[in-house]
Amino acid sequence: MIIGVPKEIKPQENRVSLTPAGVDSFKRAGHTIYVESGAGISAGFSDNEYEKFGAEIFKSASDIWKNANMILKVKEPLEEEYKYFREDLIIFTFLHLANELSLTKALIEAKTTAIAYETVQLPSRLLPLLTPMSEVAGRMAVQKGAIHLETINGGKGKLIDGVPGVPPAHIVVVGGGIVGTGAIRRAIGLGARVTVLDIDIDRLRYLGEVFMGKIETLYSNNYNMIKAIETADLVIGAVLIPGSKAPKLITENMVKKMEKGSVIVDVAIDQGGCVETIDKATTHENPTFTKHGVIHYAVANIPGAVAKTSTLALTNVTLSYALQIANMGWKKAAKRNEALAKGVNLVDGNIVYKSIADAFDMEYKELKDII
Ligand SMILES: NC(=O)c1ccc[n+]([C@@H]2O[C@H](COP(=O)([O-])OP(=O)(O)OC[C@H]3O[C@@H](n4cnc5c(N)ncnc54)[C@H](O)[C@@H]3O)[C@@H](O)[C@H]2O)c1
Repeated sequence: MIIGVPKEIKPQENRVSLTPAGVDSFKRAGHTIYVESGAGISAGFSDNEYEKFGAEIFKSASDIWKNANMILKVKEPLEEEYKYFREDLIIFTFLHLANELSLTKALIEAKTTAIAYETVQLPSRLLPLLTPMSEVAGRMAVQKGAIHLETINGGKGKLIDGVPGVPPAHIVVVGGGIVGTGAIRRAIGLGARVTVLDIDIDRLRYLGEVFMGKIETLYSNNYNMIKAIETADLVIGAVLIPGSKAPKLITENMVKKMEKGSVIVDVAIDQGGCVETIDKATTHENPTFTKHGVIHYAVANIPGAVAKTSTLALTNVTLSYALQIANMGWKKAAKRNEALAKGVNLVDGNIVYKSIADAFDMEYKELKDII
């Protein structure tokens, strides 16, 4: 199979979908790898290094898209890439289609096979390709939040851990999954007062035990949310309902009641966001806006800010799935690997992932009826 690795074109997306070590693995399995010149440079991988392990370097993205059987990417294709979609093309990347109507339509129209990193799901319900990026994003959410709490950045001027005689910042984490846990680790590490809300009591029990009395756990309902957000200096949105749009749990009224100069980091923005006052993602170039005196940060590709760590962490987990697709073809690979089958979102113009069809009120077909 020919595997194409184009340079990411999303603003400030510095990750790349394959490392030279990944090229080496594909090469050993007998595949051909085309890498766009400069694709890995921001993550610390030169064209020479890719070439050393057998990749062919192409100057233009269009040559890669046109000649590859499978495109490996990090983020979803942007509009200028839609023209490359075709029937005999597999795209394996983060897609977040439930929040991307025009992309979904373009892929359906071209009958491209779309396999999403974020919906590959193990029988244990874990999302193995989302996990490392969530681990990065959770830690970064607190880091970014702390910076925006500084007076010089428009924040209320609160130091996360305070000093003797002055209380620490209150960080409220909404959703105690992988992002939430990463955020809690960092928040505790910095010395904050931490509250986490989740609807999964077992998860709250686990977090309570792991963090041994250093956090407050709250069942997630509207009543508790109002109480927690009211006193928060920094709110981190980290909920997920797999494959669906995030619920708007933090309402405009709650935001209005927050102290001026507080900060909200909505990590769940890639699924539409869980904060009512944020209607679209921001970028690393312009990461924040202020509404009701509260700083909102809603970057959809937070891990891109630490491209080296993120690229290594992402490719560690995507490579084995990509190799299965390349070695067996996606149909056979999906039949053999239940987790990979869950990653298949669109096939031959059909939506085969239920919550994406539900999000747009479109027809759903079961993958097993197609392959
Ligand atoms: N912006 C970025 O750069 C970036 C990076 C990584 C992940 N993400 C996103 O972050 C979000 C969280 O990812 P994750 O890996 O932590 O998911 P996860 O499944 O591990 O955790 C989600 C948690 O949300 C909880 N939840 C669901 N409904 C809830 C509710 N009503 N109230 C409170 N909690 C609720 C779940 O019980 C679960 O514990 C996802 O939307 C993911 O796509 C964004």
